[in-house]
Amino acid sequence: VDHVGLAVADLDAAAAFHSARFDLEVIHREDNPEQGVAEAMLAPRGAARYDGTQIQLIAPLGADSPLSRFLTRSGPAMHHLAYRVGSIDLATQLLTDRGVRLLYDAARSGTRGSRINFVHPRDAGGVLVELVEVARSG
Ligand code: CO
Repeated sequence: VDHVGLAVADLDAAAAFHSARFDLEVIHREDNPEQGVAEAMLAPRGAARYDGTQIQLIAPLGADSPLSRFLTRSGPAMHHLAYRVGSIDLATQLLTDRGVRLLYDAARSGTRGSRINFVHPRDAGGVLVELVEVARSG
């Protein structure tokens, strides 16, 4: 599991909340206008070169963000589960061959230059599943 995404209304407040309670720290922040979200990635505090599962806080960048509708409907809540894959193109092909619908025809840009896609919740047991191909660091 690359990360678990939590929908929040206020990114700073949520980051402080989760950091204080669960000994996490923000290791990355980024706006993704294409996805309509501002995000913060959290990892265990003090973990050097952390490569494990992260917590992703996502807040809507504007009122027209799909995430705004999610927050209105569900409030702050768990939003998606992200699997890390070796190749987003291969994963997309394999899932499509299995009759699984993906949200995008081609991968889009995710956190830190990663390539992402989403599985339709109806084809994933009601869970929004994100696929993440992590960018190779130089
Ligand atoms: Co995510």
